[in-house]
Amino acid sequence: MNFLELKNISERYLDLVNPTHPEKILTAGRVAGMKKDSRVIDFGCGYGEELILWAKEFGITGFGIDIRPAACERAREKIKSQGLENRIEIACGNAAEYEFQPQSFDIATCIGATFCWKDGFREAVREMQRAIKPGGRLVVGEAYWSHSDVPAEFAQRQPSITAERELLRMARAEGLELIYVLHSNHDDWDHYESENLRGLSDWLDENPMHPSRDEVIQHLHESQEEYLQYGREYFGWALYVLKPGT
Ligand SMILES: C[S@@+](CC[C@H](N)C(=O)[O-])C[C@H]1O[C@@H](n2cnc3c(N)ncnc32)[C@H](O)[C@@H]1O
Repeated sequence: MNFLELKNISERYLDLVNPTHPEKILTAGRVAGMKKDSRVIDFGCGYGEELILWAKEFGITGFGIDIRPAACERAREKIKSQGLENRIEIACGNAAEYEFQPQSFDIATCIGATFCWKDGFREAVREMQRAIKPGGRLVVGEAYWSHSDVPAEFAQRQPSITAERELLRMARAEGLELIYVLHSNHDDWDHYESENLRGLSDWLDENPMHPSRDEVIQHLHESQEEYLQYGREYFGWALYVLKPGT
């Protein structure tokens, strides 16, 4: 099983696939100026939950793109079940290769998926900025190191993670101004990590003879160890609302 297939298993109980909370997602949308018929593009949209929340609260129209067929299918099912199929469209593909029309969206979002682009956060905000109209906003969800003394053995496993001040530096270097930040707390992290563990554990109970069982057990154990040993202490995560510089 590759990493995304393991995610299909572990994320069954999660709608938002990040250590955050629906209220924070709505606050980010409000600060970004979402309103009726705002056009929002969401890169790496997962199960479409952010677009669904924003469509219900603000009446936006959304376009989401995700590389995982199972995520796209689940997103489309939920969108339909909420009667939002005329407001939200989901495309299955590589966000970094999607050819959007420049300056055609009011708000561009990428929540926990800047790794879609080879150069991560910096390339993501550059591309997102191309997608928005003058006066538009970006919403980015990103992990960062919350301490400067991250053990080398853990830091080496996560080469794309950086300090929050470095995210700010990169955003400014791309001509963006930070206008709002919503940090995640330990409860957000516990919820996200624990629901992933529960998804894996329940799958193992339901699939006693599955040929990939050992891989799933290994992933479960590594996830437990990584979170309790390092992640809880050294990982931060936040939603950033950005606008082109003044
Ligand atoms: C951490 S999840 C976040 C999903 C969603 N934004 C949310 O907050 O619930 C990252 C998502 O990025 C998707 N993804 C990974 N690589 C991608 C790529 N190159 N293009 C589009 N989506 C990608 C994964 O399938 C996954 O659903």
